[in-house]
Amino acid sequence: MNYLELGKQALSSALAEQTEKYRQYCTEGLNLNLSRGKPCPEQLDLSLPMLEITAWKDKDGTDCRNYGGTYGLDRMRRFWSEVTGLPFENIIVGGNSSLNMMFDTVSRFMLFGTANSEKPWCREEKLKFLCPAPGYDRHFRVTQQFGFELVTVPMTAEGPDMNVVEELVKDPAVKGIWCVPKYSNPTGITYSDEVVRRMARMKTAAPDFVVMWDNAYAVHDFVEEGDHLLDIFAEAKQCGTEDRIFYFSSTSKITFPGAGVAMMAASDRNLKYIAPVISAQTIGPDKLNQLRHLLFLPDVAALKEQMKRHAALIAPRFEILLSALSRELAGTGIASWTEPNGGYFVSLDVLPGCAKRVWELCRDAGVVLTEAGATFPYGVDPQDTNLRLAPTFCSPEDLGTAAEILCCAVKLAALEKLLER
Ligand SMILES: Cc1ncc(COP(=O)(O)O)c(C=O)c1O
Repeated sequence: MNYLELGKQALSSALAEQTEKYRQYCTEGLNLNLSRGKPCPEQLDLSLPMLEITAWKDKDGTDCRNYGGTYGLDRMRRFWSEVTGLPFENIIVGGNSSLNMMFDTVSRFMLFGTANSEKPWCREEKLKFLCPAPGYDRHFRVTQQFGFELVTVPMTAEGPDMNVVEELVKDPAVKGIWCVPKYSNPTGITYSDEVVRRMARMKTAAPDFVVMWDNAYAVHDFVEEGDHLLDIFAEAKQCGTEDRIFYFSSTSKITFPGAGVAMMAASDRNLKYIAPVISAQTIGPDKLNQLRHLLFLPDVAALKEQMKRHAALIAPRFEILLSALSRELAGTGIASWTEPNGGYFVSLDVLPGCAKRVWELCRDAGVVLTEAGATFPYGVDPQDTNLRLAPTFCSPEDLGTAAEILCCAVKLAALEKLLER
């Protein structure tokens, strides 16, 4: 039934039916949560054997209990090189959080500029940063914290709208762009080859423009043949723009979020430029944790096995959510959603002006969703349309119930809106 084609009377009776259903849900005293983009406890159990590892000496004799190794263990850098396909020399292994490395990176640009800056960013009169939206709220918050004007760029099924990006970067105040190029948070899409090429090739007015390439979900496929992402460094090298790329990833959703191993990669020139700053900042990261990770996941083959075990737990949860959306909302004309091959999220678009209402209705029926608006800069979705759904943390049973309530709320909010006209 396409709700957009219904007359007033049919809309009113559909509203009465959904209201009755919704009231029933509200009496059940539920406490369900679709807001947490976190692994479920069974996923965390997969890495428990790693905590049994008490080794402290690396193969090359490095005593991991002691200071040293500003860029992390060489073997860990090699591991990341194998995973990402990037040269070993361009990789720095950090602490437990890639978001922390991203914050530090922007903070260094503010204080010292990039290798290509004329002056530190904090001395610029105006600073702007491009935020593809729907996107990752924590990225936006980093640049908001440093006083950037956040400029929204629409996301398409292939990545940020590059026509818009190429126009915006003609402004010298635009210093960079946030990117989650594979299984993007929250849409789950992977950037097309064309988007990656244009990102590497585009002419920017700012000589120190940066692409914050957060490949957080590089290996997080839950289908046999995951999405393919073009190597942005290789593309950038071809046109001499490799200094603009800052690449990040971590094992947060491979082993333990908050207790994993993060990495960053940058061009030769950038690494040389930031080396003195990093060595002033730290004597080195937690090498014992890196060694534990290397013994638990010694190579890409072991990593792939670990990701298959994650996929076996995650894929059924996505299936429950997606089949509920399709069963309840397909053909209604009031919602559309993404169907990713990996990552942690599904992005749901409801009728304009309805996302906040859906969020409220869900809350009152005991289902917590990520706040409506959170996927846009400043937490404001101009169309009030987008909701980020995170199916991994709930048990399959709870997820089924939460998805039903969500669909009921989407219908209820749409019917209320359509009856206002
Ligand atoms: C796109 C993206 N980047 C980074 C992070 C956080 O990564 P880390 O735990 O390495 O700081 C998340 C967590 O949800 C994420 O979705």
